[in-house]
Amino acid sequence: MKFSIDFYFGGATAAFQAEGAVKEDNKGQVLWEPFLERQGRFDPEPACDFYHRYPEDLKLSHDFGLNSIRISIAWARIFPIGAGKPEQAGVDYYHQMFAECRKNGIEPFVTLHHFDTPETLHQAGDWLNPDNIEKYVAYAKFCFQEFSEINYWITINEPTSMAVQQYTTGTFPPGEKYNFHKTFQAEHNLNLAHARVVNAFKEMGIAGQIGVVHALQTVYPFDPAKDGDIHAAKLQDTLDNRVFLDGTLAGEYGTETLALMNEILAANQQAEITINPSEMDELKQAAQQLDFVGVNYYFSKYMKEYHGISETVHNGTGQKGSSISRLQGIGESGVPDGIEMTDWDWPINPQGLYDQLERIKTNYPLVKDLYITENGLGLKEEKPAAGKILDDQKRIDYIRLHLAEVLRAINDGINVKGYFVWSLQDMFSWTNGYNKRYGLFFVDFETQQRYPKKSAHWFKKITETGELPE
Ligand code: BG6
Repeated sequence: MKFSIDFYFGGATAAFQAEGAVKEDNKGQVLWEPFLERQGRFDPEPACDFYHRYPEDLKLSHDFGLNSIRISIAWARIFPIGAGKPEQAGVDYYHQMFAECRKNGIEPFVTLHHFDTPETLHQAGDWLNPDNIEKYVAYAKFCFQEFSEINYWITINEPTSMAVQQYTTGTFPPGEKYNFHKTFQAEHNLNLAHARVVNAFKEMGIAGQIGVVHALQTVYPFDPAKDGDIHAAKLQDTLDNRVFLDGTLAGEYGTETLALMNEILAANQQAEITINPSEMDELKQAAQQLDFVGVNYYFSKYMKEYHGISETVHNGTGQKGSSISRLQGIGESGVPDGIEMTDWDWPINPQGLYDQLERIKTNYPLVKDLYITENGLGLKEEKPAAGKILDDQKRIDYIRLHLAEVLRAINDGINVKGYFVWSLQDMFSWTNGYNKRYGLFFVDFETQQRYPKKSAHWFKKITETGELPE
């Protein structure tokens, strides 16, 4: 079993994590800038300076056999305060960068929103404010009309990461914790924002395809023989996955999804969310028209029954075993014997990727094509000595095991058409800074020099043969 000749292999990036140049060409501020400044943990500038170095990175992509890339447009480069008059410098930049992709034979998969809401709109209530949804739709329509060179559009990257980390774990700005009402309301509003953009895309008759990217965390009961653990897994799955899968892939929330959501809200004495019936029509229409789904998969979760108050500690340093996740009315995360953990406490379970793909095929029959839009391993790495190649065998092993699950899924009739490694080159991690590196290319953040890692050479062999090398 091999990957087909037209399979997309690429590196994934995101505007705010890669571009740097946060104040250049009248770019507007995004929600992270004041948040990171208050935290004082790291500076999002210069990132890996993709804004200036994209020709080099795209050439490297080409030289290492990649035929595609995931890139996002920074909303605040086009509309510095989220709406109004477009900023020509930003528009020109993306045209030039997309042209450079074509020059290198690289197909760009372009995300409209990758965690970088303009600060002005964040201050105005972020995704909880329906007016911001309209501004997002206007921005998307502008991009569809302007960037006719794009074939693959993605509405939103990982809506779950936005909603859950903004209002449940507090690791994304505004940093609010345990507000499940806001979390679920933001989840529904993100589904609605996505749906309106898909429907607009189709109404406008834009050539090309449109999809959405979900972070899927496969949730298992810690002890499959315990009813309490089985139920905790369903509750966590509702928070992380189900509301988005139902909302975007089926266009309706299942009875069980709604019941589990309301159970979490009731257990936290928080009000139910508002869902207008006409919004459900919009969700349905979008699900029927959606061209593809992107799956970002890194880890699984193993849930135990838990009846205490919420307590979460984020491991943002790579100190193994420093995280805690116990959510009131949901459950507690545990680590079963035999499951390897990353330094950031993410349980490694390649089969979780297969299980998610299989679940989508079985439960969401409207889905057409699938892509793995992110998968990879964060490691602490040092610059290689002169003339040496950085040996990231652990990353190779991780990617190989996950790609084997992708091949298994394809073999079982699941229509996966591409795989993007997170990340193309090293950049910063939103909640972990610069010391969690994922790239195929090592970046010296002082000099911005790129150094292909062993994984880049290994990955090149797959792109040449379609087979998984040892
Ligand atoms: C996904 C995001 O959540 O995972 C990326 O789309 C992100 O932007 C990646 O960087 C890895 O997560 P982290 O927290 O390790 O940086």
